[in-house]
Amino acid sequence: MKNQLLSINDLSHSDVLSILNTAAELEKITSGANKKLPTLRGRTVVNLFFEDSTRTRISFETAAKRLSADVINFSAKGSSVSKGESLKDTAQTLQAMGADAVVIRHGSSGAAQRLADSGWISATVINAGDGTHEHPTQALLDAFTISKAFPDRKNDFSGVRVAIVGDILHSRVARSNVLLLTKLGAKVTLIAPPTLLPVGVEQWPVDISYDFDAEIENFDVVMMLRIQLERMSNFFFPNEREYSRRYGLNETRLSRMKKSAIVMHPGPMNRGLEISASSADSSRSVIVDQVGNGVVARMAVLYLLLGGAPISEVLS
Ligand code: CP
Repeated sequence: MKNQLLSINDLSHSDVLSILNTAAELEKITSGANKKLPTLRGRTVVNLFFEDSTRTRISFETAAKRLSADVINFSAKGSSVSKGESLKDTAQTLQAMGADAVVIRHGSSGAAQRLADSGWISATVINAGDGTHEHPTQALLDAFTISKAFPDRKNDFSGVRVAIVGDILHSRVARSNVLLLTKLGAKVTLIAPPTLLPVGVEQWPVDISYDFDAEIENFDVVMMLRIQLERMSNFFFPNEREYSRRYGLNETRLSRMKKSAIVMHPGPMNRGLEISASSADSSRSVIVDQVGNGVVARMAVLYLLLGGAPISEVLS
């Protein structure tokens, strides 16, 4: 496995299986009263967040602490970035403080790659979401969630049909999930209005549909995406009500899904826009599970990338 995680393309099929299997093992080990392992004791993980986050930042912090690493949380708001300090100077300051891993979220696509390629720091770089490009650990936690929902598949998603619905254009989650879920054998369909699909999407290894109602009965997984109003400078649909009517997940659509199908959403949700409150809170929603799975998936990534001591050794 490479010692950086910038894109799902950095991971081979066996790397992905190794992460999913390690996450499952870590979940078993840390599900009791003692949630902490000493495996990354003495290592320092820096969360370098230039964009807002709740789930990703807190789960990386929790994951690192459960592995006994020291954690430094850096948020651009309230830091010297607001006085104009560059990414280079910020990164080098954190390196000087002894960072072994830098988990970076940034509004610009390619920022994580820039940091990794720059030579400014020697720490392992993990992409926690860069612009509209990728969010690899979100895809890993999503795959782990699907794997738990369909345990007899044993991480082989051949024949599993996944719909990713909504604002594909602005979604780093969609890009990473298409790469990862197809690597595991799933058949992915993107469902969106034409205005919310990126240029070149016909080259992606997916089916495309503009008609949610015509397709909804076919899927094992329905992954709803947030409408990213903050990234929209143009009008991509007539109005929110019209979008919700054609592409939102509501009770009627929920009732037409396969009985075994699950509902996913990476969060944060626009309740009432891309997903109704009753769908988000329904018994087939695994949205809260996704958050919990994010901790063990990120523990697995930190553990494997930072070369933590073998789990069997640290337990003995
Ligand atoms: N899913 C996700 O990346 O959520 P946050 O923006 O809260 O981290």
